[in-house]
Parts: sequence; structure tokens; C-alpha cells
Amino acid sequence: MATSSSSASTKIILLTGVTGQIGGAIGRLIATQGHTLILPVRDIQRGKNVQQALIAETGNSNIYLEQVDLASYKSIRKFVQTFESKYPKLDVLINNAAYTPSAKKTLTVDNLESNFAINIFSYYLLMQGLRSSLKKASPQARIVNVASNYAGHLGKCE
Ligand SMILES: NC(=O)c1ccc[n+]([C@@H]2O[C@H](COP(=O)([O-])OP(=O)(O)OC[C@H]3O[C@@H](n4cnc5c(N)ncnc54)[C@H](OP(=O)(O)O)[C@@H]3O)[C@@H](O)[C@H]2O)c1
Repeated sequence: MATSSSSASTKIILLTGVTGQIGGAIGRLIATQGHTLILPVRDIQRGKNVQQALIAETGNSNIYLEQVDLASYKSIRKFVQTFESKYPKLDVLINNAAYTPSAKKTLTVDNLESNFAINIFSYYLLMQGLRSSLKKASPQARIVNVASNYAGHLGKCE
């Protein structure tokens, strides 16, 4: 568990979508730099495989998994509460997870179109929900939003 006694140069960094292509590469780089990584993943078993590989490759054992479904407001809210209760601050939030829209429109449990819910709204919910944790790392705290055309060309979705 990350504690406030961590070295000042060691950051607590939250990265979504680590089980994906780009997330895996970002996670490896951050772990190599010795920072504490918090990895909210949808599928814990898939997350565990990535976590173990990162620890083995980098020697950094400060890599922690949490469960979240970014398609669910309730799940995001639960994750935020868990984060706040376990971690002293948040230096960097990296919203990287993404949903690739298909030709057929799909809805989330909250009845939102999936592209909007995951690629845009979940980013907003994490930024808002984790504000107080980010403030604890102020003024150095940072938010990085990784996006694609899917987040900008919503008009093309049926
Ligand atoms: N790859 C590209 O060419 C490209 C180009 C431009 C921009 N980008 C942007 O780069 C970022 C990463 O892309 P990528 O190619 O690495 O994506 P990817 O390989 O498809 O991975 C997507 C990640 O998002 C996670 N995810 C999807 N839905 C989720 C949900 N409901 N709850 C929690 N996690 C969820 C996936 O978890 P699971 O393993 O559980 O599915 C996976 O870890 C995205 O923001 C994307 O828009 C990518």
C-alpha cells in the first residue's frame, strides 16, 4: 500500500486501461521509473497477469490493482471511495481506457451510449471524483487524458 512517507520524487499514479496496448506501454514506463502505480481494471484476472508481468519486468512491487467498470457510474463511484480510503493522495491521473465503437449502438447499465459513457463521461467522473485526492498533491498534480477520434467525432456514431 502506498503511504505518505514515500519519497518526495516517487509519485502515486493512476492509470486506466493497463490491459490494453498503449496502457501496457505507459504502465511499463511508469513502473520502470519507480513510481507507485494504481491500476483500476475491469477484469481482475487479466489485470493480475499484467501486474505480475510489470513487477517481474521492472522490479517495482508498488503496483496495485483495483476493480472498476468504467461503463458504470456506480462502479466508478465505488472505485473512487476505495481509492480515497486506501491512498494518501493522487499525483497523476491518466485516463487512458477506451471503448472501440461498433456499427451497432450499445448502451451501458446507466442507459448511456457506450462510446460517450466510456470514452468521455468516465474520464470526467474520475477527474471530478478524484479531485480531493489530486488536491492533496497540489500544485504538482496532473491529469492526462488519452483520446482518439472516437471522443471527438461523436456525430459519426449511429
Ligand atoms: N491504438 C491506437 O491506434 C490509438 C490511436 C489514437 C488514440 N488512441 C487512444 O489511446 C488509448 C489507449 O488505446 P489502446 O489502443 O491501448 O486501447 P485498447 O488496446 O483497446 O485497450 C483499451 C483498454 O481500455 C479498457 N477498457 C475498455 N472498456 C472498459 C471499461 N468499461 N472499464 C474498464 N476498462 C475498460 C480495456 O480493458 P479490458 O482489457 O478489460 O478490455 C483496455 O485495458 C485510448 O484512449 C485510445 O482512444 C489509440
